[in-house]
Amino acid sequence: MKSLNSMQPIECNIVIFGITGDLAYKKIIPALFKLFEKKFFKNTTRIIGIGRREISNEEYKNYIINSICNSKIQNCNLNNEIINKFIDINTYCQADYQKIEHYEHIKTHLKEVISQTNVSNILYYLATPYLDFEIIIDMLFQTSLNNLSFLKLNQNYENFLRIIIEKPYGYDLNSAKLLNQKVLKVFNENQVYRIDHYLGKETVQNIMVFRFVNGIFEPIWNQKYIESIQIKLFETIGIENRANYFDKAGIIRDVIQNHLLQVLTLLTMEPPILLDPDNIRNEKLKVLHAIRPFDIKNYKSSLIIGQYEEGIVENQLVKGYLDEKGIPANSKTETLAIIKLFIDNWRWSNVPIYLIAAKRMGKKLTEATIKFKPAPHIIFNNFCQTNEAVSNTLNIKIQPDECISLNIFCKRPGFDMSFQPVTMDFNYNLKFQPLIFEAYERLLLDALYGDATLFMRSDEIEASWKFITPIIDCIKNNNIELKKYKAGICELNFDENFNISLC
Ligand code: BG6
Repeated sequence: MKSLNSMQPIECNIVIFGITGDLAYKKIIPALFKLFEKKFFKNTTRIIGIGRREISNEEYKNYIINSICNSKIQNCNLNNEIINKFIDINTYCQADYQKIEHYEHIKTHLKEVISQTNVSNILYYLATPYLDFEIIIDMLFQTSLNNLSFLKLNQNYENFLRIIIEKPYGYDLNSAKLLNQKVLKVFNENQVYRIDHYLGKETVQNIMVFRFVNGIFEPIWNQKYIESIQIKLFETIGIENRANYFDKAGIIRDVIQNHLLQVLTLLTMEPPILLDPDNIRNEKLKVLHAIRPFDIKNYKSSLIIGQYEEGIVENQLVKGYLDEKGIPANSKTETLAIIKLFIDNWRWSNVPIYLIAAKRMGKKLTEATIKFKPAPHIIFNNFCQTNEAVSNTLNIKIQPDECISLNIFCKRPGFDMSFQPVTMDFNYNLKFQPLIFEAYERLLLDALYGDATLFMRSDEIEASWKFITPIIDCIKNNNIELKKYKAGICELNFDENFNISLC
């Protein structure tokens, strides 16, 4: 991992496939603008947006301005002069990804840009729908755009050509393997940056620091002291304009296969021997390999799925999933899932781990909760007002209100020896405001500097699909009950036997 002080401004041609899509509009353009504003780019850096639509220069300029101004960029100088300078480094190239002759336009466009700047580093970013990934990679190969030799430069080993590939990376184990094969036929693994934006979040990166710098947690970070772990991702939003994608994906592919499994690996992996991409990713991979395969026969004890109905979210009446635009009236796609799993190794033997995700909840929240086993014998029983076991919990709140809090018990002041739960908190925003990088900024910068630590390696992706694929197959083949829940509920309470009430 690089330190910010050692980072020189970078020069590169950043080529974004899918520039007119939702992701580019909401995340990638604003992140690039912020990096530009913070002077991470030399004035020879260029951004080339590729899209299918015919767009005039004026329309493209307005599109970029709207993307920057409509995004909720924090701590950013929305100054006209800077925006105009940013517009000047952007150009648009119209191309249909399916047509090989259009890659010749891309090549000509790139060569033209490069002839003005003399900068030959290239970073491709695939931000298109995932079904286009293979064809684009294939076409880059067929037109030699996968290799800087198309620029006919004198060999300069300092120059780089890299590619960022968005999620979803495949839709099951087979398709992920095929995609890996295709990608690795065209690029070397060290040129490929498979993005999971959760790894770019400060609070997710902090999990490693929290665990491996604060020595006090290591002795209790195992099955002897930990009773269970929950990793939860609740969203208030529904599927927005992504019906076509989401209805085929479902929440398990959308956020559990990637974001939640990544958080899980960071929480449960062994300390890497060095802080380099491969050592970290080797440790994460071991965890993924150690997850007990999903037991299809007993799926009822380890899987719950649900779908939202009409309800009130943030004081607004919102539609049920089946009434969303573009969703078939008989869709069985899950918008809620709870998966119980075990990691079969010495550290985690028999500790239940729950991955929980749901759309259209009453609050947005991503957090990991580590529940510790209760003290072996409570001497205060006569004074305790509750019969519940008194367990400590550690809450790692990834977003919003980023914080870490340890729930402990303390004596309630007074004559009685009674106690009550209290929390010891560390709050990011109080301590560190402002957070320096938004996730996409951080990851773009890492890819530009060639640091793959926060990106997924091909084997990691396959290992996560190996666990997830039997679950999605089980849903497809077993007609599993899709529990209906009202949009806007705030909690999902289930018991040890996985009974849940969703009203
Ligand atoms: C994306 C999913 O990867 O993550 C979206 O495709 C989801 O459906 C989003 O809304 C959640 O990200 P964040 O950063 O808002 O938690």
